[in-house]
Order: sequence, then structure tokens, then C-alpha cells
Amino acid sequence: MEFSKVHFLLFFVYSFLILSQISLATSDNGNDQLKTYIVFVRDTANRVIPATADDVIQNITNNVIHKIEHLAEWYISLLSSVVPDRSRFIYSYRSLINGFAAQLTAQEVEELSKQEWFAGALPSKQYKITTTHTPAFLGLHPPSIDPRGAWNITNLGEGVIIGIIDTGITPDHPSFRDDHLPPPPTKWRGHCDFGPSLCNKKLIGARRVLNATEGRGHYPPIDKEGHGTHVASTAAGAFVNGAGAYGSAVGTASGMAPRAHLAMYQACNEYGRCDGADVLKAMEYAINDGVDVISLSLGLMENSDGHHVYEDHVAIGAFKATLQGIVVSCAAGNSGPSLGTLNNDAPWILTVGASVTDRRELVVVELSNGTKFDGRAVMQPKNWPRGMFPLAHLGIKELNGYLDIPPCTGKMDKRKVGGKILVCSLDGEDPFQKSQEMRAAGVRGVIFVNLNYFGLEDITLKYDFPYAQVLYADGVKIFNYINSSKNAAATFSFRGTVMNKPHSPSLASFSSRGPSLPFPGILKPDIVGPGSSILGAVPPTFLDRTTNKSLLFDFMSGTSMATPHLSGIAALVKKAHPNWSPAAIKSAIMTTARIFDNNGGLITDSGPIPGPADLYGIGAGQVDPTRAIDPGLVYDLNGSDYIRLLCGSGLTDDQIGIIISPLPPVTCSKVGKISQEQLNYPSITVSLKPNSTVVISRTVTNVGLSASTYQAKINTPRGISAVVQPALLRFNAKNEKITFTVTFKWTGSVSYPLRGQLVWLSSKQVVRSPISIILLN
Ligand SMILES: *[C@@H]1O[C@H](CO)[C@@H](O)[C@H](O)[C@H]1NC(C)=O
Ligand SMILES: *[C@@H]1O[C@H](CO)[C@@H](O)[C@H](O)[C@H]1NC(C)=O
Ligand SMILES: *[C@@H]1O[C@H](CO)[C@@H](O)[C@H](O)[C@H]1NC(C)=O
Ligand SMILES: *[C@@H]1O[C@H](CO)[C@@H](O)[C@H](O)[C@H]1NC(C)=O
Ligand SMILES: *[C@@H]1O[C@H](CO)[C@@H](O)[C@H](O)[C@H]1NC(C)=O
Ligand SMILES: *[C@@H]1O[C@H](CO)[C@@H](O)[C@H](O)[C@H]1NC(C)=O
Ligand SMILES: *[C@@H]1O[C@H](CO)[C@@H](O)[C@H](O)[C@H]1NC(C)=O
Ligand SMILES: *[C@@H]1O[C@H](CO)[C@@H](O)[C@H](O)[C@H]1NC(C)=O
Repeated sequence: MEFSKVHFLLFFVYSFLILSQISLATSDNGNDQLKTYIVFVRDTANRVIPATADDVIQNITNNVIHKIEHLAEWYISLLSSVVPDRSRFIYSYRSLINGFAAQLTAQEVEELSKQEWFAGALPSKQYKITTTHTPAFLGLHPPSIDPRGAWNITNLGEGVIIGIIDTGITPDHPSFRDDHLPPPPTKWRGHCDFGPSLCNKKLIGARRVLNATEGRGHYPPIDKEGHGTHVASTAAGAFVNGAGAYGSAVGTASGMAPRAHLAMYQACNEYGRCDGADVLKAMEYAINDGVDVISLSLGLMENSDGHHVYEDHVAIGAFKATLQGIVVSCAAGNSGPSLGTLNNDAPWILTVGASVTDRRELVVVELSNGTKFDGRAVMQPKNWPRGMFPLAHLGIKELNGYLDIPPCTGKMDKRKVGGKILVCSLDGEDPFQKSQEMRAAGVRGVIFVNLNYFGLEDITLKYDFPYAQVLYADGVKIFNYINSSKNAAATFSFRGTVMNKPHSPSLASFSSRGPSLPFPGILKPDIVGPGSSILGAVPPTFLDRTTNKSLLFDFMSGTSMATPHLSGIAALVKKAHPNWSPAAIKSAIMTTARIFDNNGGLITDSGPIPGPADLYGIGAGQVDPTRAIDPGLVYDLNGSDYIRLLCGSGLTDDQIGIIISPLPPVTCSKVGKISQEQLNYPSITVSLKPNSTVVISRTVTNVGLSASTYQAKINTPRGISAVVQPALLRFNAKNEKITFTVTFKWTGSVSYPLRGQLVWLSSKQVVRSPISIILLN
């Protein structure tokens, strides 16, 4: 009785949801335009609605793994009741959701919504890869972080499988050689669309999953874009000697987990565009094939409306992956430094921001009055002449307090620019052609002034011409010098690749910032990893235009590049602790992260706001793989916690039903709620009203020495008090859990920034949680 009543309700609520989408779609596109939809089908199995979130989760194996095989035919028959044309059917999903993808008009969706089996329809969202720029810009080599500590004889990620959803792969690249690798574990059920000759013990699977984006087809998942190859090599590329590009930073390249296996799911096309229906199908393949980690260097298109988790295919897929023990690591996005620009921020996802490493291809710009500025040049000419050269620009103006620096484009007057160093802004022109123009005009060198919110490593220029990229602030000083001096002149001093650049790592200015809009009570991003000017494997279509030879490695920047660093490191943690849940692995990575740079200060923001990076940019800090393997304590979570969190975050039962499908639907009033601040997350966000107290609780699990004692140390800004109880945790056994509380109170005028930390200290371990404080008036 109760069952049918609930479903009856469900049916109407969904119809309403869909109708409102339809009216939107109709006004925008007309009624007969075909779009890809994910259609959710009500599970007809005669099931009772479970009473608790644990009941839901306990049925995961029954529901997710053993679905009937003939689902596709059944779904096609459902669709054909309204749409007889079979060719509109794209995919059936078996284990990720109950439902299918099809091309439909809004009118057809409305017709389908009248069917008894219909449970909802989501227009397929559009995603794109998250590099900051196209491969038109090039870069250099990345010792990035030093993972030697995490690597040892027994753990280079062997036996762990990383699934990558991206633009395809270059199977015969040396980064994907399988010398001395073991065969994949027996649980592997994947497939190689290249055929057995191109897959090996490193690249154990490769599938094309592009039927929604590119139409049906059977092409090998060759990477034409370059992004998938690059990302895969960062996660688990083999050791390759003599890597480097343009003669700079030559060394041995490898991924974070150099002996892990790779499986590529090509769900993004050669332009870096990915359809949600393909991404969801790729995640389903990855889960069923048996991967341990899923790496997604992609995010929603900026213009896509609403991105709550129940509308986001990545979040919906990642929920089910997490329940199966798979770590899902995703790019935070490249829309920084503005706040509230994150995506992929579901609490079960590891949300990865980007940092800048300590490597720079240094060129020093020296003005004739003796002042020097550090700049960057990937191309380092060997024959730069001695002496000063006059400085010139093409008409810099001041506009609203900013310098309007024109790009050096168009035909240049040789008499005005010949023999001089030109000051220009960055532009998107083909660097190769631009170099030719500069040469033709007799220009001696170019100072490229960065965009005002970019650090030097955020964009890698590849002009085959002497140049120096400088920060915007330094560009302003150089301009003032030109404007104030009759004989302004300068020269360059090329210093090659230097390591240990001061104030490294720093937060990349482009890295998207929190707060998470759907989950403001959960600090995001979770972590940052190297993502600026990362050297990675590229397809042979990438040419060094100075020689026209194929490149093996090239530079790219973006949270896309940071994500596979974390995916590889998650694989190392998984290898060391095969039974840890994805939440425990996330916790280990977060509570051991670094917050200080190589000058000993807090990690700074490379963007326009000087000083320490905000928690909304850096999350728990910069990943430290060596410490992540041995975190001492973890904050664990399971699927039923996440379901109760969704209930506690104001989602309706139906919206939750979409996220957890094919699990049975839930009623929040029965399963209970967890508020965002009470979720057992490894970071803490607390909202305070004047003079009222908030008590949050957390449970830590001892994964270190069986007998160990931890002392709490808490820091909060002035005006906020915090008391931890108990302040001493005594563990007697491994996997023992202890719950503690933190009582916060806003007592008086506060000092900014509103951040703090809770650290559990033992003789051996430092377990750190950042604290983000929100004041409510
Ligand atoms: C869970 O699975 C068991 C065994 O298949 C079944 O009897 C039970 O009804 C299921 N529970 C729910 C909540 O679906
Ligand atoms: C999930 O964790 C909660 C503690 O937060 C525990 O009560 C529950 O039994 C766990 N559920 C499962 C299915 O392990
Ligand atoms: C894409 O379509 C082709 C041709 O119909 C089909 O053989 C293939 O299995 C489809 N791909 C996926 C991932 O379903
Ligand atoms: C350049 O200097 C002159 C004075 O020497 C000043 O009037 C002018 O505003 C300056 N131009 C800019 C763009 O700052
Ligand atoms: C040289 O010029 C720069 C830019 O105008 C200025 O900041 C600096 O103070 C000058 N240095 C000396 C020694 O005059
Ligand atoms: C590289 O190829 C381009 C286009 O074919 C050509 O214009 C250029 O001269 C070549 N450069 C070199 C160094 O061979
Ligand atoms: C290698 O690391 C693993 C954990 O990842 C550890 O158990 C093992 O003792 C380490 N071996 C050596 C030789 O350090
Ligand atoms: C808390 O109460 C005290 C005493 O009434 C008052 O002085 C103080 O300003 C209050 N704090 C805040 C943050 O409002």
C-alpha cells in the first residue's frame, strides 16, 4: 500500500520537474529539436522502501552488480511506445542508474513522462576538459612534487587500476610501455578497442564511449586532442629517460603511480567536449571493468545552468563508484580566482585544485637604471647579444586605473620597432607566425606582460623568438620607466631552468574557488596538486615548430593536470591499504597535506590578492604523498552517511532517488538527516551567530600504531573560542574509533582571515583539519 502511494507521489513530482524543464526548452529551442536526455526508469521490482540508509546501502551488491542482461531490449521497448525510431536510443545503463540515454524532443519527453514506468529525465549536460588553454601554448618539464618518499621497492602502484575518462590515448607512447609490469589483477573485466597488439600490461583497457557526442561508431580511441594522453601519463606513466621539451628541463619523466595499470575511456571528443550521457556510460564501464580509481579532468561548461548534484552526471556516477570502493578524483575547474566558481564539488568526490611548482625557466629582465625583474621564457636562446636595447610599445594607455597594453599584432613599422625590445600584452595568436612577424620587423625581443590575475606559470608561451613573460605588476613598472625616461633601455639574461623558486608551491590563480554552492557547509576544494606548466606525454601530432619534429612531451596547465597527480597518489594509498574506503583515502590525503611553502610561510596565492591563499582556494593544502600513506587517524564515511547528508541538505526524496538510482528510493523522514557541518569530513566548516555555541562532532579511526595517544591542538581567530572534548585520545587497538566534539562560540570582535585548524598530535603523527568559519549576523 505504502509503496504504491509513494511511487504515485514520485510520479507527479517528476512530471512537474520535467514540465518546467520542457517549458524552458521550448522557449529556447522550439519543440522539435533533438537533445540527448537521460531517462530514469522506475524499478518495477516489487520492493519495499527501505527504512534506514543502511538498508539501502546493504542492497548495493544485489542492485548494482547483478542486473539483468537484457535491459537494453527492455528499455528500447519502453522508448518505442512513444518513439518508434530505434536509432534514437543511445545507451542503456545497468549499474549506474536505472535508465537509458536517447535523443528526444521536449515534446517526446512530455509524452514519456505520462508512462507509468517514467521516473524522470535529465537533459544531458555538456562538459569540457579543464586545461587552461589549448595546446597552441606550449611548456616544459615538471619534477612537480617529489614523490620519492611515497615510492619504494614494494609500492609503485602495481596491481592498482586507474580509469581515466578523457579524450583517448596514444597507445604506443613510451610512457605507456609495460616493461617488467605484472599482468592486470584477475578482477579486471575490461576491453581494449585497439585490439591486443596496442594494449599491454600498462594500458590494459581502452574504450570509445562517444556515441552521444559523435554518433555511433567503432573507431579506436586514439587521442587527437592530446589531453587524455597527457593526463594518463601524469597519473601512471612509466619512467621515460630524456623527457623534456624544447631542450629545457631534460630528465626522467614518470607518473605518480608508475607501475599502476591504466584504462582509458574516451568520452570527450577531439575538441575536448564531453556529453554527460557518454561520461555516465564511461563511468559505468569503468566500475564494471574493475578500476580502483576514476580520474576525471573535466567539468561542466561554464554556461551550463544549475549544477546541483542531482543534475550533474559526474556526481551521480561518482556516488555509485564511491559505494563500490572506487576513489573518484575530479578537477575543481579553471574559473578562479573569483569565489564560488567550483564544480565537481559533491562531498563523495575528491575535488582537486591546482598549484604552481617550484620550477621556472628563468629570464631576468634588466632595465638600464639597474632594476631587475624575474620573468619566464621556455625558449632560451643561446646567442643573445650583450648590451642594452631601447624599449618601445605600441601605444599603452591608462584606462580606469589599469594600463591598457596593446598586443603586438598587425603590421609593424620596422623603423619604429627595429632593433628594440617591445612591450606587449599576451594574445591568442599562433606563436609561430608571430615569431616570424617579429623577425621580419627586426624586433630584438619582446616583453609579454601577463594578464593581471595570472601568475607566470599559468600560461606557457612558446615563441621561437627571444622573449620574457613578466607579471602584470612588473609590466606596469617597466611601462612607468619607459614613460618617465628619455632613453629607456633593457636587456635579457637567460638563466635556464631553475628549481626551488621561492614561495613554492603557490596556488594557481586560475584554480576555481569555493565555497561550494550546493554544499556551503563542506569546504572545497579538498586538496591542491601541481597543475601549472606540467610536462606530460603528447601524441606525435604535437610538433616543435622550431624544428617541425614531433614532441614526446609537452607542457599543459589546468586543474586537469592537478587531478591525475591526485589520482595516481590515491592509487599509491590504495595499494598500501587495499581495504580502505574512498573516504578514508581522501581523509589520509587531506589531513597530511602541506600548508607551508619552501620559505616557511603559509602557501600564497599566485593571483592578484597577495598573501596566504584562502581556504576556498587551497582546501586542506598541497598533497604530500609520502605522509598520505601513513596518516595515523582517518575520518571515515560510508554511503549511508552520504544519503543522510543529502537528506540534511534539503534535497527532496525524489532528487535523492535520482542520485542513488538504481538503489531503492529513500524517504528522508525515515532514514534521518546529517547536517553538512556534522558530516564526518576531514575538514571543518562551522557557521556561528553572536554568542551562541555550535557543537560539532567527529569520529576518528586509528589506522596507525595500535597503542597510540593523540593530543588536540586547536587554533581559531581572535573572537572565536573553540574547545575540544576529549582533548586527549588514547587508542588501544588498530581500527578503534573515538568520537570527540568541538564547541565553537563567537565571543567578540574577530580577527581575519576566518580560518583555523584542528591538529591531533602524537609522537609520530600530525593529523590536521582546516577550519573554515562563517559568521551569521
Ligand atoms: C535487499 O535484498 C534482499 C535480498 O535480495 C531483499 O530480500 C530485500 O528486500 C532488499 N531490501 C531492499 C531494501 O531492497
Ligand atoms: C555507516 O557509518 C555509520 C556511522 O556513521 C554506521 O552507523 C553505519 O552502520 C555504517 N553503515 C554501513 C552500511 O556500514
Ligand atoms: C556505439 O555504437 C556502436 C555502433 O552501434 C556500438 O557497436 C558500440 O557498442 C557503441 N558504443 C558503446 C560504448 O556503447
Ligand atoms: C606618461 O607620463 C606623462 C608625464 O610625463 C603623464 O602625463 C602621462 O599620464 C603618463 N602616461 C601614462 C599612461 O601613465
Ligand atoms: C628604475 O626604474 C623603475 C621603474 O620605473 C623604478 O621602479 C626603479 O625605482 C628605478 N631604479 C632606480 C635605481 O632608479
Ligand atoms: C615547418 O613547417 C612549416 C609548414 O610546413 C614550414 O612553413 C616551416 O618552414 C617549417 N619549419 C622548419 C624549421 O622546417
Ligand atoms: C613500502 O611502503 C609500504 C607502504 O606503502 C610499506 O608497507 C613498506 O614497508 C615499505 N617498504 C620499504 C622497503 O620501505
Ligand atoms: C556577546 O555578549 C557580550 C555580553 O553581552 C557582548 O559584550 C558581546 O559583544 C557579544 N558578542 C557578540 C559577538 O555579539
